[in-house]
Amino acid sequence: MGHPIDAAALDTLFREARSYSKWQLRAVSDDTLRDLYELLKWGPTSANAGPARFAFLRSKESKERLRPALAPLNVEKTMTAPVTVIIAYDLKFYEHLPRLFPQNPGMAKLFESNPEMVETTARRNSSLQGGYLIMAARALGLDCGPMSGFDHAKVDEEFFAAGKPCFGCDQEFFPEGHVKSNFLCNLGYGDPPSLHPRLPRLPFNEACSLL
Ligand SMILES: Cc1cc2nc3c(=O)[nH]c(=O)nc-3n(C[C@H](O)[C@H](O)[C@H](O)COP(=O)(O)O)c2cc1C
Repeated sequence: MGHPIDAAALDTLFREARSYSKWQLRAVSDDTLRDLYELLKWGPTSANAGPARFAFLRSKESKERLRPALAPLNVEKTMTAPVTVIIAYDLKFYEHLPRLFPQNPGMAKLFESNPEMVETTARRNSSLQGGYLIMAARALGLDCGPMSGFDHAKVDEEFFAAGKPCFGCDQEFFPEGHVKSNFLCNLGYGDPPSLHPRLPRLPFNEACSLL
């Protein structure tokens, strides 16, 4: 704590990390996916709520369920990726607050009575957790291909609607489900020769202000 990580680690996490569309024929084990969650779960979220839910699609069958929802340009890269994660959020995340944020027993009630705050909090924090997933994956030597080009309604219906597995919760009273997709992320070991040259980023003075 208090010391920067070394330059090689910074390269791995940021400077040399790329978004991949083509993948080596190298599998990603379930143990690696567990290690991935065990790292990303430590990233901070509002009220320690951790509203993100992660569906790891590894089998051909689960990828085929996703295929109809994908934008055409995202089909090939997704079907060939060893794993595709649906980063989603649970609109009933506040039910876990008595366990996750016990020092403030009123917090769950606050969310329960304010659906707009639930939605905003769930989306903001699941996006952050998706970012933590990308950085954790890179830290474990994996490569990522994040994607927002897909039909959310189709994904939600196929994977998170009533009667479908819903992360240990009961969807009987939520016919449309209460878990919603945020974005997708392919995971695997990327194929460096397939990369285009790196695109520029805004320089400090265009993206930042020192006040
Ligand atoms: C939230 C998000 C959504 C994205 N959606 C898509 C997508 O639908 N299809 C795609 O090919 N790339 C998608 N990308 C990839 C970006 O275009 C890529 O990360 C960006 O150009 C930077 O590339 P680099 O990491 O190789 O520098 C997405 C990235 C993010 C973070």
